[in-house]
Amino acid sequence: MTAGKTFLERYGEAVRDDPLRALAMVQGWMRTDWRAFFAELRTERPIFATPAFTVVTRYADVAEVLSLERVFSVRAFAPRLDAALGGAFMLARDATPMNWREKGLMRALLVPEDATAVRELAGRLAEEALDAAEARSGAEPRVRVEAVQEVFRHVALRICADYFGLPGPTPETLGGWTRAIILDGFANYHGDPAVRAASERAGAELMAYLAGLLAERRNALADGERDILSRLLRTSLPAELGLDEQRLMINMAGLPLGWVESGPGAMAEALEQLFEHPEALAAAGEVAGEPERFDPYVWEALRFSPFFKLLPRLCERDHLLAAGTSRETVIKAGTFVLAAPASAMFDAHAVPDPEEFRLDRPEHLRLFFGLGHHSCLGVHPAGAVICEVVRRMVLRPGLSRLPAPEGDVIRVGAVFPDRFTLTYDRQEARR
Ligand code: HEM
Repeated sequence: MTAGKTFLERYGEAVRDDPLRALAMVQGWMRTDWRAFFAELRTERPIFATPAFTVVTRYADVAEVLSLERVFSVRAFAPRLDAALGGAFMLARDATPMNWREKGLMRALLVPEDATAVRELAGRLAEEALDAAEARSGAEPRVRVEAVQEVFRHVALRICADYFGLPGPTPETLGGWTRAIILDGFANYHGDPAVRAASERAGAELMAYLAGLLAERRNALADGERDILSRLLRTSLPAELGLDEQRLMINMAGLPLGWVESGPGAMAEALEQLFEHPEALAAAGEVAGEPERFDPYVWEALRFSPFFKLLPRLCERDHLLAAGTSRETVIKAGTFVLAAPASAMFDAHAVPDPEEFRLDRPEHLRLFFGLGHHSCLGVHPAGAVICEVVRRMVLRPGLSRLPAPEGDVIRVGAVFPDRFTLTYDRQEARR
């Protein structure tokens, strides 16, 4: 709220005077002022229709949208993801045999029991990165680290190499490809042609790289290898269910695309929220030696700022949303719907005392990894890595952020955490 007016009052005035500006205002609020804006919508207009899109803010309604993939589809992602990858990917199709088959196959490979080893790997990588920052900081009394690039993305890209079996020509090149494709696929609402072209270029390079990598790895397959690419290449399905080379490549591409932006993004969001809740950070520090007691702090921190704040869907046929409630609304076919997990997880009808930082939130209320048909393939390893990297950061004594603005999280496109500069005590100071 500014100048005593609510968001909806300001929106109403802008719609009368300058409708395009009204839409830009709503988009701006959802990027930078989302917490207050969604809070107002949840009470005043839980299903908020604009001429361009409809925002869904209550938990039950977000769950309804995400559970009905034949009504609320991901078709809007298809033109961009298809163009980048040269074919269909599960996150751009709904309820097709391809979704069924390939999600099943990839789930069978990314097994929950990998989480322990992947967590250990992430812990080791985070320690190395933090030690390297210390070595670089020379004689400075405090270590300074730019956590997003030096730790979070560094770990994420090494997980691509060591766990997925997909190192990229270099980690930087692989990270550049994922950033370009994800920026266009999920944050280029206005269809900026330069962003589009960069994504298609990155996609072509990624797929050419994968073609070479698959051929190379297939020629040198060894039984003991446990990375996902090796598992995929050693999996044989009956011929009538066989997947051709392009399907394998597209599913392998989906691993870094699903991880390299969202993983580091979630780590930055969680850590920032721990700093925003100093009592929780202090309590988390007390139990940081025990992962199972530490992890709930990460998930509750993330609830205050999930990486995916909005999940877009296209309404395929008229649908009465929230039927039988006072907010029931017909969503017309063709409507672009923005389901807002960031709002749903603050809906007091589903989450008691949502403003309180509490560790006993039931798991089913967590929407960090989506819900339903498109729920995240990487939930198990990703959850373990996010918690472990944040834990290793919190274990560094005296961890703090620099005073604003230097210590703020800097985001690209207001979405992707890109820089977050932190400091901590040197090892010698601790001895
Ligand atoms: C190992 C790491 C990861 C991999 C391989 C991965 C991969 C994927 C894939 C392939 C999908 C599409 C599934 C489908 O369409 O059926 C997906 C969905 C999703 N992932 Fe992940 N992901 C990873 C990590 C993450 C992280 C760290 C987050 C956020 C904290 C995240 C959040 C999501 C969400 C919200 C969806 C649902 C999107 C929607 O419904 O529109 N993922 N993931």
